Amino acid sequence: AISRWYFTSMIFLQLNEIILVESCHAIKPGMLNVHLVPHTHDDVGWLKTVDQYFYGARNDIQHAGVQYILDSVVDQLLKNPDRRFIYVETAFFYRWWKRQSGDMQDTVKQLVDEGRLEFVNGGWCMSDEATTHYSAVVDQMTIGLRFLNDTFGPCGRPRVAWHIDPFGHAREHASVFAQMGYDGFFFGRLDYQDRSRRKASREQEMVWRASESLVPPVADLFTGILPNGYNPPEGFCWDQLCDDPPIRDDPDLEDYNVEDVVSKFLTVAQEQAKVYKTNHIIMTMGSDFQYENANLWYKNLDKLIRYVNQKQVNGSNIHVLYSTPSCYLQELHRANLSCPYFPMRIDDFFPYADAAHDFWTGYFTSRPALKRYERISNSYLQVICNQMEVLGGPTSRNGSFGVGNSDTMKKAMAVAQHHDAVSGTEKQHVADDYARRLANGWTQCQVLVSNTLAALSGSSAPRVYCEHLNISVCPLTESSSKFSVNVYNPLARPVGWSVRLPVNGTAYAVTDSSGNVVPVSQATVVVRRDRGYAVNELLFQVRAPPMGYSTYSVSLLQKGPPPASPFPRAPKDIQNKVRFLKVTFDPETGLLSSLSNLETQQTVRLSQNFYWYNASDGNNKDSKQMSGAYIFRPNSSTTFIISKTAKIETVQNSVVQEVRQWFSPWVSQVVRLYADSRVLELEWTVGPVPIGDNMGKEVITRFDTSINSSGIFYTDSNGREVLQRRKDYRPTWTLTQTEPVAGNYYPINSRAYIKDEKDQLTVVTDRSQGGGSIQDGSLEIMLHRRLLHDDVRGVGEPLNEASDLYPEGLVVRGRLLLSLNPPAVAANTHRPLAQEVVLQPLITFTEGLLPPNTRPEVRDGRPLKPSFLTALPPAVHLLTVSQWDPDLVLLRLEHQYEARDSKEHSQPVTVNLQVSPLPSTFILLTGMNLSANQWKHEMTRLDWKVDSGKGHSPGCELTLPFST
Ligand SMILES: *[C@@H]1O[C@H](CO)[C@@H](O)[C@H](O)[C@H]1NC(C)=O
Ligand SMILES: *[C@@H]1O[C@H](CO)[C@@H](O)[C@H](O)[C@H]1NC(C)=O
Ligand SMILES: *[C@@H]1O[C@H](CO)[C@@H](O)[C@H](O)[C@H]1NC(C)=O
Ligand SMILES: *[C@@H]1O[C@H](CO)[C@@H](O)[C@H](O)[C@H]1NC(C)=O
Ligand SMILES: [Zn+2]
Repeated sequence: AISRWYFTSMIFLQLNEIILVESCHAIKPGMLNVHLVPHTHDDVGWLKTVDQYFYGARNDIQHAGVQYILDSVVDQLLKNPDRRFIYVETAFFYRWWKRQSGDMQDTVKQLVDEGRLEFVNGGWCMSDEATTHYSAVVDQMTIGLRFLNDTFGPCGRPRVAWHIDPFGHAREHASVFAQMGYDGFFFGRLDYQDRSRRKASREQEMVWRASESLVPPVADLFTGILPNGYNPPEGFCWDQLCDDPPIRDDPDLEDYNVEDVVSKFLTVAQEQAKVYKTNHIIMTMGSDFQYENANLWYKNLDKLIRYVNQKQVNGSNIHVLYSTPSCYLQELHRANLSCPYFPMRIDDFFPYADAAHDFWTGYFTSRPALKRYERISNSYLQVICNQMEVLGGPTSRNGSFGVGNSDTMKKAMAVAQHHDAVSGTEKQHVADDYARRLANGWTQCQVLVSNTLAALSGSSAPRVYCEHLNISVCPLTESSSKFSVNVYNPLARPVGWSVRLPVNGTAYAVTDSSGNVVPVSQATVVVRRDRGYAVNELLFQVRAPPMGYSTYSVSLLQKGPPPASPFPRAPKDIQNKVRFLKVTFDPETGLLSSLSNLETQQTVRLSQNFYWYNASDGNNKDSKQMSGAYIFRPNSSTTFIISKTAKIETVQNSVVQEVRQWFSPWVSQVVRLYADSRVLELEWTVGPVPIGDNMGKEVITRFDTSINSSGIFYTDSNGREVLQRRKDYRPTWTLTQTEPVAGNYYPINSRAYIKDEKDQLTVVTDRSQGGGSIQDGSLEIMLHRRLLHDDVRGVGEPLNEASDLYPEGLVVRGRLLLSLNPPAVAANTHRPLAQEVVLQPLITFTEGLLPPNTRPEVRDGRPLKPSFLTALPPAVHLLTVSQWDPDLVLLRLEHQYEARDSKEHSQPVTVNLQVSPLPSTFILLTGMNLSANQWKHEMTRLDWKVDSGKGHSPGCELTLPFST
């Protein structure tokens, strides 16, 4: 049975047992204990590629070489057993480990066993929190944590999640970390106003209740805000990258400075203690790519510890020690705060601002093409690599089409989750490198699929993959007069889709009916350039059973009528035959004017258009901040309209009705309603964004509706639970709003909605984007950005994307899916819909016709074969099916409805899993935590007392040695 909103593999034993980290240095109970945490922050790609960072190549861009950091740290740890170090990014550690001798590996194992080298976080990378989807985050954490467990056993299991750099923090990340068994979470960045309030009230350490659906404390996570980002206190940076004076402790020498350094340190520690609650404080001694010459740091830290503690003989009550985040956390837990408890947090940490006009809300949309490629690669990984590898067994990896693997894609996707990867905040050559890794993953996966499909279908006809169907390019379907289409459904329920294939003929038979042909739009011809020549698109409906496939044959008919020419005006309205949806158009402008759900008989006014904000170039009376890869800083709240009217073409047949809107040479859209769909599709095409006027542009589409949204809208968190957003407001602190647009932007990973009592308009997106509701009843989504200035947060390049194929600027195409429902049942539509967008069907082609296909049919509610799974209940999502080792398959099931989502589906549900005989043994790995690196019965987490009310209990005074 899966209770509400659980991932299956996580039922927690709520023991109050406290796990002692035995390797921690002794603390002094009556004193202020200062935990020094030596660390390095190693970006898995940013200004340099991940490989350049590993080897220390291109030090002209940034001096950084991770291999030397690990060499040097291990060497220094061996010199003094008191020393400690933490390491975070398994992508780097794994590269380094593979190149070490057996002796060195044994030495490192011993350091880990003794707690001198501790892994924290431990995922492949430190993921971005605003633009990632939870399924990819769970995967990348699993890869890293698995390597650590396989290599070091339980001593390698990180206790603490560590997201010191991501630019704002998502609640779903905290929920996922809690369900992975972490005891605590530390980060460095939060809104400056929130921080200053938390400092004043000593609320920088808290318990984050990260789910409104899970029963506490399942998603409760202790969360600490680090004192200084992730840097050392000012004046105490002893890396080769820093300029602070070393400790000069020879009294005979001129510039002896021990007294100075010690007294300065005591002051810093006392000041810091004033903004935290216990008599323990943490200091992060390190920063970006530090410790390449670890001797510098450790030599000075050894001295600092010695000289500061010596003062205790003269009455100092400050004790400083080498420590790690888990040792620090353990002391916070031992402090057993009861009056008051640690406060509770229920909202998330978006958006992040570091000053009044500096909102980090641009990266929610930056590099929209990379964001889409990452999302569709996730689908490719889950469907093609993972499911096909399981279905095909060993033959999938070595079969009639050669040798392929899923590992390349897994690692490419894991790297792409990094907070400078899918976030779009890396340099251009690094973005290219992430895309190249994903492309290599696709190639490997395709070999796997060809092998599996050949084995399953008994046909060894070569499989053809068409990755550019979205711009009507597919050489096989364009040129062939007879071909087969294989559609594989990755979901655990039968699903139907509309397939659109570029063709050059006018009439086709599809299996035993006839397909519908529509002319390719002019906008598509423009964007595809000289790739492909199809003049038409063939459209037909397909269905496939749960985790199964169906095959369709397509043949060119010699004589067919040409498709009807497009009609040059907008119809008054379009509605589908089965009467699900109706949309009306304004005859004057060609724009949408209303949307109706014919089943529920609701109608809202809905107009939509495209606009841009002028990106600030720094010449602004309020601030010199420019818009850049991270920061969205419009020069003013004014939006510039691209065109008040659209040129229209209308195409209608029995499968689809399309109103093609052309706004300008760089903005067009297709409003598309399929015959049997409850969703309106808006396919937008934006670019090359013109910059000839020397103005950077942030392009949005905005829906203005009659919905009475009262300043409130909703966005999902990493594609899972939904959070309420209110204009100029933060749920747990008082905001002074300084940026009326950028300060009201939030990340949208998969959906956003506005609603009133009657109507809910939900928009499902095909990638992560930023958006807001600046006026009541309106919802805007940022689609593309092209900027002329850097925003001075380190990347050092303006976000001005072009490529060989599009030297005048990238063109981006995507889809927004709209649905209108009564709020109480809206989730019944948007939950499965968002899932279908995230896990897309796999479509492959073969030249010529295959043996008669297995027509997908549903009889008595059960799909016919070939299917590998009986359909799961609608509330249950098949999150992972992946080969774990030669004999085991990892299966993750997920209850996908929130407690408040749906009367019908939000209930606990029992799953009866019937899995067809598979080539490999299918063993259900229940009883593991979410990241599959710990058995359930071994899982105990620290319990925390929480102050669930706002503020302190009355009469509850803090008595601490250093309270002011
Ligand atoms: C402690 O105080 C005495 C007397 O002032 C002084 O001689 C000694 O150097 C001090 N010790 C330290 C570690 O500061
Ligand atoms: C924690 O404090 C409570 C009183 O608030 C006390 O009852 C309990 O025994 C303490 N626990 C430990 C482990 O000290
Ligand atoms: C595609 O069809 C068009 C229009 O019928 C025709 O002019 C063109 O030659 C065809 N292209 C190819 C390569 O067959
Ligand atoms: C962790 O690794 C050890 C071997 O080091 C293995 O015995 C154990 O089963 C692994 N734990 C999990 C949860 O896979
Ligand atoms: Zn970073």
